[in-house]
Amino acid sequence: MKRLFLFMLSGFITLSLFACQTEEVNTPIPTQEELIELTLEELSYYNGKDGKPAYIAVQGFIYDVTNSSFWQNGSHNGFEAGQDLTDIIINQSPHGLENLSRVPKIGIVVTGE
Ligand code: HEM
Repeated sequence: MKRLFLFMLSGFITLSLFACQTEEVNTPIPTQEELIELTLEELSYYNGKDGKPAYIAVQGFIYDVTNSSFWQNGSHNGFEAGQDLTDIIINQSPHGLENLSRVPKIGIVVTGE
C-alpha cells in the first residue's frame, strides 16, 4: 500500500514538473520585435483626429495615448499627438517623463533608410 502511494506520488510530481515546463515554453516572452516601427513622417498620421489613434514619440519610443482621457482627439494642454514631444515633456510639462509609465509603450522611431 505504501509502495503504491509512493509510486502515485512520484507520478504526480513528475506530471506537475512536466506541466510547469510546458507552461513556461508556451508563455510568450515580450521582445523588442513586438514594438512597431514608424518614421516621424509615418507617426504624423497618428494624430488622434477623425477617429485615428493618437501616438506620441519621446526619446525614440512611441507611446499610445489614444485611450487617455487627458489626450482627447490627440490634444493635451495645447500639444498635439503625431509628433516627437521629447523636448516639451522634459522642459515644459509639470510632470516630466514619469507620466509616460501610465500609457502603453508600443514602438520605436526609425529613420526610414
Ligand atoms: C505644458 C505642457 C503640459 C502640461 C501642463 C501637462 C499636464 C498634465 C496633467 C495635469 C496631467 C494629468 C495629471 C497628472 O499629472 O497625473 C497630465 C497627464 C499626462 N501627460 Fe501631460 N502635460 C503637458 C505636456 C505633456 C507632454 C508634452 C506629454 C507627452 C510627451 C505629456 C504626457 C502626459 C501623459 C502620458 C499623461 C498621463 C495620461 C494618463 O494617465 O492617461 N504631457 N499632463
